[in-house]
Amino acid sequence: MLTAYTMRMAQLLDPHCDMLLVGDSLGQVIYGLPSTIPVTMEMMCAHGAAVVRGSWHALVAVDMPFGSYEASPAQAFESAARIMKETGCAAVKLEGGEAIAPTIEFLTHRGIPVIGHIGLTPQAVNILGGYGARGREQCEAEKIVADARAVDEAGAFSIVVEGVMEGIASDIARTTGAPVIGIGASADCDGQVLVTDDMLGMFERTPRFVKRYDDLAERIGNAARAYAQEVRSRTFPTADQTYRPKS
Ligand code: KIV
Repeated sequence: MLTAYTMRMAQLLDPHCDMLLVGDSLGQVIYGLPSTIPVTMEMMCAHGAAVVRGSWHALVAVDMPFGSYEASPAQAFESAARIMKETGCAAVKLEGGEAIAPTIEFLTHRGIPVIGHIGLTPQAVNILGGYGARGREQCEAEKIVADARAVDEAGAFSIVVEGVMEGIASDIARTTGAPVIGIGASADCDGQVLVTDDMLGMFERTPRFVKRYDDLAERIGNAARAYAQEVRSRTFPTADQTYRPKS
């Protein structure tokens, strides 16, 4: 699984991924917001629809933004139904463990396929006090495993486990039926997810769990510098890029 926010990126990633996630990380990656908290339903629906238009093979899941599902199962159903109708996505993802399990059960019993998200849950950054890895203390590790079990029993068809100490993912995999998709959760997961812009090297700083498969930021900078220099020196455009009347 990789994240996608645009039609063209979806087209490029789709042949290689089983799932594409329209993550609410688009708040930071696309909109320059300080966290995922301000992300809106309108943003998720617009980008979700674009990604669905660019994919034909991968399952597309769209994140439910903060504030769109926590108040009640009925609120969650309304938001999830809107996301599915407006985007054409196959599933939604929402954050939370035992506390949100009744909502996941409500949605899955009403035709909404749900991916859970536990461990480091970025929408709860103000409660967690930052983006540090979770499960350092035994009691917190046990709570994360209990969250996984609750989300699994509630009917989530897959569970994203983010930013947890090694060992927790294998405990979860042992006790749950749903496939575990890890991000900073070790190799003991059934699958992995990364924010595409992180793994493409679009940012100077990335979390420890990210592997950079390219250095796109540098390559884009080099291309823009070459273009600007050629425009200023009038070596672009050449005859090759110029429309000429037929003689
Ligand atoms: O918003 C997102 O991109 C995510 C992934 C990092 C799992 O939730």
